[in-house]
Amino acid sequence: MTAPLKHSDPITVDVALGDRAYDIVIGRDVLPTLGPRIAALRPGVRTAVVTDRTVAKHWLEPTEASLAAAGIASTRIIVDEGEGSKSYAGLTQVSEALIAAKIERNDLVIAVGGGVVGDLAGFAAAILRRGVDFVQVPTSLLAQVDSSVGGKTGINSPQGKNLLGAFHQPVLVIADTSVLDTLSPRQFRAGYAEVAKYGVLGDQAFFAWLEANHSEIFSGGAAREHAVATSCRAKAAIVARDERETGERALLNLGHTFGHALEAATGFSDRLFHGEGVAIGMVLAAEFSAQLGMIGQADAARVKRHLAAVGLPTRLQDIGGFAQEGLADADALMTLMAQDKKVKRGKLTLILLEAVGRAVIAPNVEPAPVRDFLRAKLAGN
Ligand SMILES: NC(=O)c1ccc[n+]([C@@H]2O[C@H](COP(=O)([O-])OP(=O)(O)OC[C@H]3O[C@@H](n4cnc5c(N)ncnc54)[C@H](O)[C@@H]3O)[C@@H](O)[C@H]2O)c1
Ligand SMILES: [Zn+2]
Repeated sequence: MTAPLKHSDPITVDVALGDRAYDIVIGRDVLPTLGPRIAALRPGVRTAVVTDRTVAKHWLEPTEASLAAAGIASTRIIVDEGEGSKSYAGLTQVSEALIAAKIERNDLVIAVGGGVVGDLAGFAAAILRRGVDFVQVPTSLLAQVDSSVGGKTGINSPQGKNLLGAFHQPVLVIADTSVLDTLSPRQFRAGYAEVAKYGVLGDQAFFAWLEANHSEIFSGGAAREHAVATSCRAKAAIVARDERETGERALLNLGHTFGHALEAATGFSDRLFHGEGVAIGMVLAAEFSAQLGMIGQADAARVKRHLAAVGLPTRLQDIGGFAQEGLADADALMTLMAQDKKVKRGKLTLILLEAVGRAVIAPNVEPAPVRDFLRAKLAGN
């Protein structure tokens, strides 16, 4: 289980969605294959590359070089980095630029960036001329293992996150694990929470492998490719069975109901990245499962130990400014959790654990015990 891996040929994960099936190509240095792959898929196509300023600095040139070498025309569209671009203003900027670039029904939009760029460019592609195909080149770990897989695209409304969107599957995903070398360590760690999530929710052996190999994932060894591929396979399998989240896909929300409340409580700011909220949320979900007797305390401690080992926050008290700013209020957190779309008739839907490696959807959780649990956690128990 701990034998060192070697960098291998690219790994292809196929997302089996019938006539919307597509490949995710994962490997170190697969970005230069973007042009030839697109040329093979769509001879003569025109493209627009959507990216953000930070990613552009590092990865726009190699992207354009690969396209040019394959004889593919491209226009660049660069948005500001950060969640603010997933907005009406960002959508206007990208849509108008796509129209100006004369991107037609048979052309391609290429999203090169993290989840913000992927969600924004994917949505712009979904509505441009009633739907233009798009390619994802995810450049954050979160995007490689999560947002680029599954076809959810969209923007935020001033009234809430991801309130406007469409299911629009990409036609190809190129996940080059070497592009993650320029990602900040904190962003990398936040994305890692989603990697660990796949182990905790459905794959005990993968979780054990992560416990043994996490440092090589961070340092960029071949374990990184394996971790990205295993995560994509896990998500692709769930998405193939439940594309529109009528059931099983909800398992991917493990840690997210607690996590979203914490993100909202910190104003979706740099105080808590999404993946950091998910890390704390996963620990809370595990500890609440233990309190209900669904798993042992040792199992919950194991989840927490691993996330802490990679430097992720695991306790409410780990959030910056925690004590000063009213975050330490179980009722306020419950109100934020109740705003989550996973609430029906006063009952919470939580993703809980039956084992490390086996999550279940618990659709009818009474709020009172959750509130008491949070109170105890806030008091440091
Ligand atoms: N569609 C889905 O299924 C899905 C799933 C999960 C999350 N999301 C969305 O994804 C977004 C978060 O994604 P994210 O964490 O990737 O955020 P992000 O896109 O804002 O990227 C994080 C930061 O890292 C920078 N960056 C990205 N790649 C880099 C690289 N290789 N080198 C240097 N800097 C780089 C970006 O410029 C940005 O500043 C949220 O809007 C969330 O709602 C969508
Ligand atoms: Zn997430």
